[in-house]
Amino acid sequence: MYSTSHFYDKLQVLESEDKPLKRAERLAAIERPLLAWYASRARALPWRDKPEPYRVWISEIMLQQTRVEAVKPYFERFMTAFPGIRELAEADDDHLMKMWEGLGYYNRARNLKAAARMMMEEYGGCLPSAYDELLKLPGIGSYTAGAIASIAFGLPMPAVDGNVLRVISRLLGDREDIRKASVKARMEEELKGIMPKDEASSYNQGLIEVGALVCIPVGEPKCAECPLSSLCLTGKNGWWKEIPYKSPKKARKIEEKTVFIIERGDEVAIGKRPSTGLLASLYELPNVEGILKAGEICKALGFQEEQVAKIEALPKAKHIFSHVEWHMIGYRVVLGAEEDLSGKLKSQACFMVEKELLKSSYALPNAFRAYRVG
Ligand code: ADE
Repeated sequence: MYSTSHFYDKLQVLESEDKPLKRAERLAAIERPLLAWYASRARALPWRDKPEPYRVWISEIMLQQTRVEAVKPYFERFMTAFPGIRELAEADDDHLMKMWEGLGYYNRARNLKAAARMMMEEYGGCLPSAYDELLKLPGIGSYTAGAIASIAFGLPMPAVDGNVLRVISRLLGDREDIRKASVKARMEEELKGIMPKDEASSYNQGLIEVGALVCIPVGEPKCAECPLSSLCLTGKNGWWKEIPYKSPKKARKIEEKTVFIIERGDEVAIGKRPSTGLLASLYELPNVEGILKAGEICKALGFQEEQVAKIEALPKAKHIFSHVEWHMIGYRVVLGAEEDLSGKLKSQACFMVEKELLKSSYALPNAFRAYRVG
């Protein structure tokens, strides 16, 4: 029996029930319907209009673990602040973090600057085009190297991200664990063997786009809109709840914290985090381990009771990192106008800044969003 349900079927290799396609044939058969669909359905995105290497690189790094809609405003702002590799290589660290504030995974920004410096020193101020050279740069793994090589330089290298893992696993009815590096490596090899030599950018972005818009990560895929539906074993068999299979993650470690907004007039206390570990070198609100009661605060912060004009409890909050969860409680601590930062607070290397300056110039990670300084 032949499927006739979709316009894109006209472009597809038709499959009969008595002679199912082999894995490699099924994969090879997606090219024409995928490219036809992408040509008419691709979203207009800022980095797609002008796929210059620098723009492609920055957008791909921002898009790791972050949705397209969330990235858009950051991308434009970043391009204005750091229009090219040289400006990025010479960026002031605090300014760079401020431009990244809210995107999370701040190592991505640190790696961008380190890679820009390598490009200035070793690649004549340009992004290398060769996949193997791209892989040597900090923050660039096989997905990003493939995305840059194909989108910016038109080279036929695969770019397998979570979207592509999902689309291809479903297409092939493959129940292997997509968390395994070996599963990704196999998919990269298979795609490399069959992807078009002259349409690598549209092919890779087409797969990503199908994953983002049609073969969606949460909830039922929109198979009626899918250019690959007549080839898809998961679509035909209704396996979308089971495929892709992803083994469960290890439980995150839970850390309890008490966070303080310490105010004095129009100033507030902040500190700088250590240069290694979680949120390295970013600014933070003063905080201590554990959930403190209001009566324990002065002692914990090293204040005398008479230095403190007011203590106000703030709501509980939670922030989820990839391996850790912070469970927080907060207090607003209002100091008398003349009070100096003393005791523990000073020993934690905290200092007072004007609230306006905090907003304009210091990157305070999203983990503290629940305790925004007013
Ligand atoms: N996610 C990762 N890379 C992308 C791209 N080039 N277009 C849209 N979404 C993406």
